[in-house]
Amino acid sequence: MEKTFIMVKPDGVQRGLIGEIISRFEKKGFQMVGGKLMTIPRELAEQHYTEHKERPFFGELVQFITSGPVFAMVWAGDGVIATARQMMGKTKPADADPGTIRGDFGITVGKNIVHGSDSPESAEREIALFFKDEEQVDYKKLVDEWIY
Ligand code: PPS
Repeated sequence: MEKTFIMVKPDGVQRGLIGEIISRFEKKGFQMVGGKLMTIPRELAEQHYTEHKERPFFGELVQFITSGPVFAMVWAGDGVIATARQMMGKTKPADADPGTIRGDFGITVGKNIVHGSDSPESAEREIALFFKDEEQVDYKKLVDEWIY
């Protein structure tokens, strides 16, 4: 089953949106196979966002993501990488459609509540950065027969 890395950012944690975000992915039918509350060390933040290191907002991005706890997760399901991105909405909350997480809860691009891997390569890299194999739980849900 396809897997993706989803993270409730420090603003989402402070605003009490962890449950709301988990609930949306659960109700969709996706399965959480890993999850933890953590404060990201600076070095891990820089590795996670390495593709943006030449961009002018890189320092701000790293400062923000390390500024408080995040809730890091691995989610599994058919097409979960692309569908989770659709459910999150566009990066700039002002452009995100109502009904998406950012469209419903965000206003600025700096504080856009949630991160999700943008490709299979990113998903594999980001999951490996944040989760050991033993932190991912492989289990079968009987309800899957009513989803797939
Ligand atoms: S995307 O989704 O990767 O195409 O978006 P992108 O515009 O490339 O942005 C990459 C991440 O950087 C964050 N971002 C910013 N942070 C602070 N200030 C500014 N101006 C800014 N612009 C973009 C954006 O939220 C993306 O974070 P993640 O965690 O990947 O969603």
